[in-house]
Amino acid sequence: MPDPANSPPPFVGNGSLSELEIDLFYEHSIVMLSNMLKARDPVTHSHCQRVSDNARQIAEHLNLPQLTVEHIADSALIHDIGKLALSLEDLHKAEPLSALEYEQFKSHTTNGKWILEHIRFLHPLIGGVYHHHERWDGGGYPLGLAGNAIPLMARIIAVADAFDAITSQRAYQSAQSIEYGLEELASCSGTQFDPQIVDAFLIVMQERVPPRSRMQLVALER
Ligand SMILES: [Fe+2]
Repeated sequence: MPDPANSPPPFVGNGSLSELEIDLFYEHSIVMLSNMLKARDPVTHSHCQRVSDNARQIAEHLNLPQLTVEHIADSALIHDIGKLALSLEDLHKAEPLSALEYEQFKSHTTNGKWILEHIRFLHPLIGGVYHHHERWDGGGYPLGLAGNAIPLMARIIAVADAFDAITSQRAYQSAQSIEYGLEELASCSGTQFDPQIVDAFLIVMQERVPPRSRMQLVALER
């Protein structure tokens, strides 16, 4: 009879995990991380959910492979996971951040990478978590990557993230209209954002909003 103390845990089998087990660990880890965010900071959690929904639609519009779409949506769902390390008071303060507070805020990208890099099967999500504040023109952080050197998932999340930041209620600003949010994205296309992603999002939103607003969106595209 085998000694239970020396036997592998039942889910490990012969030492290698099955694909099904890896898929389950992957899914459960994302739910766990998302729930941790929800328990501590429901505002950021809701923001991440909306960003994930919009990022998924952009990715689908670009006809990306299904697995890539899922990775982009999942990365977006936990893109701000590094904010767990920040003070809630600083995160939701109405006044502008001091230089020191802003430096600490920026660390949520590196903190997010640090959290995920210890779990091998979450590595496909790091590109979005680590790089979603890079700018198309190279002026972002944490690495100052530019253009196509920025992972595609991060370029998609950046657009969805900015749109939600503009159109949702924050301690430091009132929620702006959808039209205003789209105008802002269009005005930063080619500087802050990948123009191809902004164009895709404008089309996604054009197909989603009521017909009365479509004329305004068509005007934006010109
Ligand atoms: Fe962020």
